[in-house]
Amino acid sequence: MEVVPLTTGSEVAELAADILEAAVRANPRAVLGLATGSTPLPTYAALIERHDRGDGPSYEAVQCFTLDEYLGLPPDHPQTYRATIARELTDRLHIPSSQVHAPDPDPDGLTTAGERYEKAIVAAGGIDVQVLGIGADGHLAFNEPGSSLASLTRVKTLTEQTRHDNARFFGSSEQVPRHALTQGLGTILRARRLLLLATGSEKSSALAAAVEGPLSAACPASVLQLHPDVTVLTDAHAGSSLARREHYREVYAAKAELPNGADN
Ligand code: PGA
Repeated sequence: MEVVPLTTGSEVAELAADILEAAVRANPRAVLGLATGSTPLPTYAALIERHDRGDGPSYEAVQCFTLDEYLGLPPDHPQTYRATIARELTDRLHIPSSQVHAPDPDPDGLTTAGERYEKAIVAAGGIDVQVLGIGADGHLAFNEPGSSLASLTRVKTLTEQTRHDNARFFGSSEQVPRHALTQGLGTILRARRLLLLATGSEKSSALAAAVEGPLSAACPASVLQLHPDVTVLTDAHAGSSLARREHYREVYAAKAELPNGADN
């Protein structure tokens, strides 16, 4: 695992944008896995700004998959993750909406929705880079503590804490849906590369548990330890509880001395 302890949220955003742009430059048909929530927004803003300036790659052949989708919202609700990712990123990068996928929350097809989403990811060639945030309780996507480390896309129940955390998008936690379809931890492990972004002091203990604690369903993000190609970008607040912070900094500073990608 490569852990990059940065100082500010904007450093996290600029480096994350560099990594995503490089993936699309290397493969214009790249498949991106996209997180919603607040953490990736500065990264998405950086990608849009570069694209608007004419500095970014073309995204017209890129395919995108969201990590999750709420159940029980009207299809035209602005807080569906399909609407959110279009508004915050993919429309602005001019990615055709037919190439942007989210789990299908239609109640009539719910029993097959997880399997259909898994198949759609496989049919697209698998996710090249998956952007991730982390919950204050260590969740990844909507895989709350206790989730199977091998799980695939399925329905999960949000914890009261997560509904409380997401109330800012809805007005009150009562309005936050109780259920969601989410990529499983096993789905996330299938992506070729994982890019975890963590900013803010409320993430510091979850991040330390995920990166340096035991592999455990009690901290779903600890599943990252099983993946061979993970980059964690953290600001000073989110990184403040990492015991090996100085070592990660030294490794990152010395990276230029190694051939490409030789230390991860
Ligand atoms: P946040 O959410 O980016 O809005 O903090 C992260 C998460 O809950 O996974």
